Amino acid sequence: MASIPWKGIILAGGSGTRLHPLTLGLSKQLMPVYDKPMLYYPLSVLMLAGIRDVCIISTPRDLPLFQAVLGDGKQWGCRFTFTEQARPEGIAQAFLLTRDFIGDSNTCLILGDNIFFGQGLTEALQRAMGHESGATVFGYHVSDPERYGVMELDGEKRVVSIEEKPVKPKSGYAVTGLYFYDNQVADIAASIRPSARGELEITDVNQAYLQEGRLRAELFGRGIAWLDTGTHDALLAAGSFVQTVEARQALKISCPEEIAWRKGYISDAQLSDLIRPLAKTGYGRYLAALLEKP
Ligand code: G1P
Repeated sequence: MASIPWKGIILAGGSGTRLHPLTLGLSKQLMPVYDKPMLYYPLSVLMLAGIRDVCIISTPRDLPLFQAVLGDGKQWGCRFTFTEQARPEGIAQAFLLTRDFIGDSNTCLILGDNIFFGQGLTEALQRAMGHESGATVFGYHVSDPERYGVMELDGEKRVVSIEEKPVKPKSGYAVTGLYFYDNQVADIAASIRPSARGELEITDVNQAYLQEGRLRAELFGRGIAWLDTGTHDALLAAGSFVQTVEARQALKISCPEEIAWRKGYISDAQLSDLIRPLAKTGYGRYLAALLEKP
């Protein structure tokens, strides 16, 4: 039996009010996180998962910028399409905007401001994609769960409940902005109603899967970094983290050109073409060194 294909959706909308004045003229998801635009990080997660057909959703103001930065994806052996979110009506709206794009596929949704890095990440992605039916979400222990969707777990680490931004969180495990869904997700998203804050909540989609007994949860442990970019301090801290690790290892985090090349999405010659306009930068020299190594 042929396995069901997976497509990726990156939601990069919103007005980024918590990062004003930085975001008065430019999308939050194009802010620098050390040496690359924020969106490169979630995009890299999809590419590491082997998902190369990706739809980027953003506001009418910012969508042309994403198109300028990312192009059609061919340069990285991918296919990018772009969809406008005219009004921000919640994360689950992403599935209503991309029904045609999704078609018969399963989907991985990742929020455009979520940064993941660490040992075992690729394996976790593969495990999630091994399930053709149901949904997979990831829990991460945080100091401030009340800011997120929160999962309550039983003794066997199965999800018992999920609540959006609870005043009294039932656990310290936030639901990260990385979700894997079967093909029913668009129908489920179409069936939920806006919450008190007027949004189609992704948490309500996850609750629907939970009620059907079709929600799986994995916990990301200490070896994984899930970084916040929601405030000026958090954005700077994320950039410092990336700078520290990259400088120490001389290996880049979430570099789409490198991932495309290592996974065989592009050839040596195609990587050389990508290096040329970057030649004056450390980023370009890093990519050039990849080709020189045995
Ligand atoms: C959203 C989701 C929340 C999730 C978080 C992850 O929150 O609603 O469940 O934990 O993303 O980043 P928001 O960014 O809307 O505050």
